[in-house]
Amino acid sequence: MPRIISPSVLSADFGHLADDIAMLDRSEAEWIHIDVMDGVFVPNISFGFPVMGPIRQGTKKVLDTHLMIVNPEKYVERFVRAGADIVTIHLEATEDVRGAIAMIKKAGAKAGVSIKPKTPAAAVAPYLNELDLVLVMSVEPGFGGQSFIEGSTEKVAELRREIDRCGSRAVIEIDGGITLANAAEVYAAGCEVLVAGSTVFASENPEATIHELLNV
Ligand code: DX5
Ligand code: ZN
Repeated sequence: MPRIISPSVLSADFGHLADDIAMLDRSEAEWIHIDVMDGVFVPNISFGFPVMGPIRQGTKKVLDTHLMIVNPEKYVERFVRAGADIVTIHLEATEDVRGAIAMIKKAGAKAGVSIKPKTPAAAVAPYLNELDLVLVMSVEPGFGGQSFIEGSTEKVAELRREIDRCGSRAVIEIDGGITLANAAEVYAAGCEVLVAGSTVFASENPEATIHELLNV
């Protein structure tokens, strides 16, 4: 199965964001993960449209945008216009998951749905055939640097079985607490995309760490 690393900009140095984006652009990471938080869906606020522009200008890599916001439908189109290649919304954040997926696609991006740690894999099953990506949160969304919640690997395995069973083309991405110590078990469970924030940005050599995460 192909492997992709999506380093999370949330852990970047915002005083020197252009340098960090240039580093990611040089690195083996194929995607760049962008965490948008509204202080309502999650107990933290990150950043929004003004920060998307310079990121988009600094790289041609896939911008993997993770919206941790209520009423995501309201902003989907603007995120796509700001340069998002993939827009992932939370299953728990909308009444109309199917409508939100259709809206993302209509806006011209790939569509993802994310589930929080307490949401079972089965909750996303009805949408698998419409999705390009399923994002399994392996920490409670809101902050970088938390520890991986045990049981997340089993959730990935369950989704892998369901995706293979129904013939969905959705890739599985995992987000939260990914380290060099747990990456292998997550790949083995059938996950293709690993988000990594603190593991990449707190390391001595982020580019080398991205390489190591790909080759555990
Ligand atoms: C958390 C965010 C994550 C976060 C991951 O709500 O969705 O993408 O940046 O950070 P680490 O890899 O440090 O757990
Ligand atoms: Zn994220």
